[in-house]
Amino acid sequence: MKIIKTIDEMQNLAKVLKREGKSIGFVPTMGYLHEGHLSLIRAARAKTDVVVVSIYVNPTQFSPNEDLDAYPRDFETDRILCENEGTDIIFCPRDGDMYHDGYSTYVEVENLTKHLCGASRPEHFRGVTTIVTKLFNIVMPDIAVFGQKDGQQALVIKRMVDDLNLPVEIIVSPTVRESDGLAMSSRNKYLTPEQRKNSPLLYKALKLAEKLVLKDGVRSSAEIIDKMLNLFHNIPGMKIDYISIVDTNSVQPVSEINSEVMIALAVFVGAARLIDNIILKPDKEV
Ligand code: PAF
Repeated sequence: MKIIKTIDEMQNLAKVLKREGKSIGFVPTMGYLHEGHLSLIRAARAKTDVVVVSIYVNPTQFSPNEDLDAYPRDFETDRILCENEGTDIIFCPRDGDMYHDGYSTYVEVENLTKHLCGASRPEHFRGVTTIVTKLFNIVMPDIAVFGQKDGQQALVIKRMVDDLNLPVEIIVSPTVRESDGLAMSSRNKYLTPEQRKNSPLLYKALKLAEKLVLKDGVRSSAEIIDKMLNLFHNIPGMKIDYISIVDTNSVQPVSEINSEVMIALAVFVGAARLIDNIILKPDKEV
């Protein structure tokens, strides 16, 4: 496994691989890898000749009041995990190289970024789409794999790739969960044992919504959100940021569920802000 730290080396190697006719699979990450990331690496491995994993905590997707400095980092463990999964290249650029002095160019997807996480993290998606575009230009992947756990991010990136005609296929891999349903996330590290105990409530709320839609035939978003909110009533230390039901094309809230939707929620639990979601088609039986 090669570890590449400079943009030039990565870009030159990508060009050589392309000339040799090798397909490149790409998994962008911010490191502190867990089983969810490893499932993305496996998905890339299954489809391409060369797998590149980037490890870069991207400053532009954090607001000044967020956890950029505290974001967990453990390069040595990440390196071993990547190697065990048959990763060919880790690309881990430095801040100063990715955003040099005078950096002024950003990529912004409109509308899809206004609701859900975009409402409470207004600069977040601009940072994500900018860094992902830069990484695509450096790694030149044929496919790139993202997790469904960051459901809005996946929809935004798909739209960006489509709108800008970027020559990369986006694959979205299912959310990997702990045995009690909590979606795996690097930020779960922030949870105290007590907070960790309550955290599966996010998935429980999503499963309740799934049952209401698919088994009970409920179509009213307000009714579903109300029942989900009730689950969090009187649970100490949990503060809802949002629970929302959005159309998967427009990422705009819907009042009635008549087509494919994403049911998504974000909850502050101590120092962590946990997110989770499911995609539902109203006519699909459970
Ligand atoms: O999902 C993430 O970890 C990040 O948002 C990404 C896609 C690596 C961009 O920094």
